[in-house]
Amino acid sequence: VGVRSTAFIRTTLAVCGFGLIACQSGDDGTVDEHEHPAHTDQAAAGAGKRAARVDRDDLPELCLRPGSDAVRDLFCGTEAPQIGSLYDLQSRLGLVFQEADLGPVDQLPMVAFYEDFPALALVLLNTSTALSGRLVSTLNPRAIILARPATMAFNRGIQRVELLSRDREDSYLNFYLVTFEQACNASAAGCSPGDLYTPRVESDWTSVRIEDDEQLKNTEFDCRQCHQRGLEHPIMLMRELDGPWTHFFMPDQDQPEGNPEASGVDVARAYYLAKGDEPYGNIPWAAIRATVGFTLQSVVERPQPLVFDGSAVFNERWPWTKGRGYPAEPEASATWYREFENFRRGEHLALPYFDPFPSDRDKLAELTEVYQRFRGGEISADELPDLGDVYPDDPQTLAEIGFQTEPGATPAQTLVQACGSCHNDVLDQTISRARFSIDLTRLDRAALDLAIARIELPFDAPGHMPPRESRQLDANALEPLVGYLRDARLSADEGALLRRAAQIGMANPLNQPSDL
Ligand code: HEC
Ligand code: HEC
Repeated sequence: VGVRSTAFIRTTLAVCGFGLIACQSGDDGTVDEHEHPAHTDQAAAGAGKRAARVDRDDLPELCLRPGSDAVRDLFCGTEAPQIGSLYDLQSRLGLVFQEADLGPVDQLPMVAFYEDFPALALVLLNTSTALSGRLVSTLNPRAIILARPATMAFNRGIQRVELLSRDREDSYLNFYLVTFEQACNASAAGCSPGDLYTPRVESDWTSVRIEDDEQLKNTEFDCRQCHQRGLEHPIMLMRELDGPWTHFFMPDQDQPEGNPEASGVDVARAYYLAKGDEPYGNIPWAAIRATVGFTLQSVVERPQPLVFDGSAVFNERWPWTKGRGYPAEPEASATWYREFENFRRGEHLALPYFDPFPSDRDKLAELTEVYQRFRGGEISADELPDLGDVYPDDPQTLAEIGFQTEPGATPAQTLVQACGSCHNDVLDQTISRARFSIDLTRLDRAALDLAIARIELPFDAPGHMPPRESRQLDANALEPLVGYLRDARLSADEGALLRRAAQIGMANPLNQPSDL
């Protein structure tokens, strides 16, 4: 056990030591999701549940489906809710932090939350494999706000809010996507980084739309493709299930001593350097600097379908030897690369990246400076550059973070990496998405031609494959892939790779929890 792990254990003990709820089960049954009801009565889902009975022209489609939770209460009432900002949405769902909730921030700040938990709690991630993961970074973290009525995931850079809420009748989770527009959507120039990556994105919403997972099932935003892959019901996900919560912000307190690489403390400090005490998602800085991955860990279901073993990865990257201490440079983590290999074979989704702080330091420094000037009033929001461009440009690194296919991959490997997560046998076979499969041997000429047409579409065109926010093709992969789809002459090995990957569908069968 390295120095780092000890420090984290101390943190955990400090949290639990206050007799806080996160270490035990809740008394009302909503918190302790470990005690998820047995999935025995399969007919219960849907049966006996009621849909909204409301006479409203603008009733969202989801209100016509059975279900009962806080999100439906808000959107399926007799009148459309007036929601003009993130704050409106949060306050109607009980997801607002009050300064008074925070307590004395100069003493172990995270404690304030745990005393209140489960009223409200929060974690922040600086790198994410979730829906808008490619926009998530140190400067633009993914905020997950947990409360009894609902859980919200939000990051700037995109006009969307992810919500989930536990159904009162069958106690499974319901998934929702809120999409909003701002005045810039109607302007000739469209929305600039300044509209999307600053506090602007959180207010002056001109319209709000809500959809549920049923409505989203044949889109790139399909929640089930990740939250329900190979499972009967969707669950909350957490890849970094146990400490050291590699990509989570950590409480801004003393650094773990002698840590050879960046930690969540560095991430929180890098964030502060650029953003200062500017609130994010209406979360005050005092709360941002107090978060810890442990909070999420204490509410997600176990076992999880796919887990990133942060301490194994750390210990392999930084083998500690007596006398010499840590190496000067990190070594390759065998565990991580073995799992990347599993992903390349189509066995499971890609795991979070091994590096806790993968921002390109020069880009980060530049964007930090620009954002400071913006906050100081020296430049306007409209002059801001793309704040999402903070990762290194090296294609292999980007492939390992999860943003593109590997440079030098064969067309068959490219198909697995770029298309295999969605076009396989495990996901819903009743929708048009299932007409394309990475097992090309099943496809006729017309289907292959359609695939060529889809990948050749301009990036911004509707229908472009892979979808815009998914892993993209390497710059040199398009031409060989088109040629491959045109010839469709597969070697025996390629045929076997694609068939197996289509069947397994990245659902992780070797590690499939039997009791889920
Ligand atoms: C590409 C896979 C993927 C898709 C698609 C996806 N999620 Fe997630 N989601 C994740 C992962 C992985 C996490 C775990 C936290 C993280 O890494 O950011 C997560 C976390 C969340 C969380 C935070 C609470 C939790 O589960 O830990 C919410 C809320 C959430 N997702 C909602 C949604 C909704 C709503 C949709 C559909 C509109 C959706 N997600 C689609 C992968 C996905
Ligand atoms: C994140 C999930 C996702 C990924 C990754 C993805 N697709 Fe799709 N694809 C979809 C969805 C959803 C549809 C259905 C909606 C539509 O037609 O756009 C679809 C539709 C298609 C269709 C049309 C099927 C039909 O007959 O109507 C083709 C062809 C296709 N995809 C090819 C690809 C190829 C090739 C790749 C990889 C380069 C890829 N897709 C990657 C989600 C994905």
